[in-house]
Amino acid sequence: MEQFIKPPVEVRYSEELALLAANDKGKKPVSWKLSPAAVRTFIIGGEVATPEGKVKISRKFYGNDALVERAVITLAGSRGLMLVGEPGTAKTMLSELLSAACCGVSTNTVQGTAGTTEDMIKYSWNYAMLLSKGPCREALVPSPLLIGMEKGIFARFEEITRTPAEIQDSLISVMSDQILVIPELGDEGLVLARPGFNIIGTANTRDKGVNEMSGALKRRFNFETVEPVRDVRLEKQIIVREAEELAAAGHIDCPVDPDVAELLAVTYHELREGVTAEGTVVEKPAAVMSTAEAVSVFFQALCHAWYYGSGRIEPAVLTEGLLGAVCKENKDDLGKLRGYFKTAAKEKSKAGELWKAYIDSAKELK
Ligand SMILES: Nc1ncnc2c1ncn2[C@@H]1O[C@H](COP(=O)(O)OP(=O)(O)OP(=O)(O)O)[C@@H](O)[C@H]1O
Ligand SMILES: [Mg+2]
Repeated sequence: MEQFIKPPVEVRYSEELALLAANDKGKKPVSWKLSPAAVRTFIIGGEVATPEGKVKISRKFYGNDALVERAVITLAGSRGLMLVGEPGTAKTMLSELLSAACCGVSTNTVQGTAGTTEDMIKYSWNYAMLLSKGPCREALVPSPLLIGMEKGIFARFEEITRTPAEIQDSLISVMSDQILVIPELGDEGLVLARPGFNIIGTANTRDKGVNEMSGALKRRFNFETVEPVRDVRLEKQIIVREAEELAAAGHIDCPVDPDVAELLAVTYHELREGVTAEGTVVEKPAAVMSTAEAVSVFFQALCHAWYYGSGRIEPAVLTEGLLGAVCKENKDDLGKLRGYFKTAAKEKSKAGELWKAYIDSAKELK
């Protein structure tokens, strides 16, 4: 079988999606692949009743289940969905899961950057074809938005606030009238959106002020704030699950030690909240302490163990990775990390050998 680093959600979970579709008895919005009930099961996990018995569906998004339901209902209506929140809170992941489950495609995406132009949002031209044949449908290069309208699927707009506000605003007319006009094509230039079309945007609250959204555009979206995971056990579960998937994809045959994942989950949780489980206030680093970063620090340590080490994660490698992740934005964060480990040394000394080795390795932090 062909291998890819990160297959799209609809490929990665194709078996689960097919199983849900085959046994879906719920009401479906026009042209959706699954009913809202099945979409919810796909994202937050559960069971699906098949003629052969019940089959378990894995949970993919941890946290606010009501938010998932609201997001699905928004998408079934005429307003777009805007997922906002801190970096690394699974906004992109959730928008991919929603797109794959509702319309079978998660890759119809515009990536918002400072360089995103109006043609990337609407349409552009194949200039060689334009010169030889003049403006015609063949010469048109449709944007993901146009593809979404014509096929009746979602278009995803990633990091929308990185795009200048006047460019973002080209979405307004499409979202209000569900029409896109291509004047160069004359009578054929009217594209009407088919049922099933909608837009899922994501925006980072840390980027606020880079490019704000206009009020007119905001009114065309329902906003949902995706919060960081606040439960250490859940965060540990996410680290373990993601690391296992990444290790399997990279043929890294190291066991994922949940106790080591817990060290990182506790550290990330306590630094993010600014208080330890024992109630001591610690200084919060300026860096974002996201679950996504925790996963990447853990996986890096796992790779180190596989390629250079004994096959088990060394605490020193974990703290080095942590240092790199935390101190990349602000020099003062190193002092804060040291302060945290001093507090932890007092409070967690009785928590076992692993914690002791972890705290000892942090003494070397430079
Ligand atoms: N609530 C959660 N449930 C499951 N996984 C989560 C959760 N929060 C974070 N993660 C992990 O973090 C990753 C989230 O990354 P993702 O790129 O989706 O975040 P994001 O919010 O889009 O970040 P950014 O703002 O930097 O784009 C997931 O792949 C997963 O490993
Ligand atoms: Mg993202």
